[in-house]
Amino acid sequence: MAEMLFSLQGVGFTYGRGIDVFRNLNLQVAKGESLCLLGANGSGKSTLLKMLCALVFPEEGRLIAFDREITEQLMENDRFAQNFHRRVGFIFQNSDAQLFTTRVEDEIAFGPIQLGLSRAEVGKRVDDVIGMLQLEELRERSPYLLSGGEKKKVAVASVLVLNPEVLILDEPTNGLDPRTQRWLIDLLLELNRRGCTIITSTHNLELAHALSRRALVLSEQHELIYDGSTAEVLANRKLLQEVNLIDEYCHIHGEREHIHRYVHN
Ligand SMILES: Nc1ncnc2c1ncn2[C@@H]1O[C@H](COP(=O)(O)OP(=O)(O)O)[C@@H](O)[C@H]1O
Ligand SMILES: [Mg+2]
Repeated sequence: MAEMLFSLQGVGFTYGRGIDVFRNLNLQVAKGESLCLLGANGSGKSTLLKMLCALVFPEEGRLIAFDREITEQLMENDRFAQNFHRRVGFIFQNSDAQLFTTRVEDEIAFGPIQLGLSRAEVGKRVDDVIGMLQLEELRERSPYLLSGGEKKKVAVASVLVLNPEVLILDEPTNGLDPRTQRWLIDLLLELNRRGCTIITSTHNLELAHALSRRALVLSEQHELIYDGSTAEVLANRKLLQEVNLIDEYCHIHGEREHIHRYVHN
């Protein structure tokens, strides 16, 4: 059986009083999986991903990762936290939240320098990831002045340079042009083939289909109501409609009855 990387056991979480997000959430993620978390806006996708990255913590139940229970207290141990964030890379939905230096090269070098790697090793890793993601031309540029697609590439590079075992991406294709979306999907498929565990959130059904055989669906009430084959859930229009991932209506056009389907993105 595949090694279990993450296990959420009876997790409850609230954002302060009155904003219940999760109640008794259970989820297991095995090493090497690619899974896609689907849900409408506000369904809890970002919150769940942040929990897997140990940026927020269960208030009830437990989060187990790499065979350890992950608590806020444990993450206050700098060495543990640094190692955890090296193993689990998080790509924020908004790249601006992730970029903070004035040169692309420095942005990518930041994590490896923090890890205390030698200057030569940092240089080699930065060169490798710049080559792999074809960022040579952006090397000297300021991350702030790049296009949305370029910023996303730099954000991905700054995480990949740490060789994470798990890559978690929050709505990664939002705002990207079709070619950059394709580029990102191909990259994630290749990383997964090489053994990296990939967890994405999206309300883009095509992305889910392209990327992951396993899909999770969060309802608008923040309940995990589906965990299974992506192909199967994408064919289940009733369920997708219930969770507000598609909207369709029937009407008569000329002689023919006719369905319009609206899909997010
Ligand atoms: N920092 C926050 N403070 C209070 N409520 C929040 C915060 N972030 C998210 N929420 C609420 O938690 C729920 C889940 O949000 P989120 O995880 O961002 O959903 P999604 O990523 O699917 O759009 C929503 O009801 C949202 O309004
Ligand atoms: Mg979100």
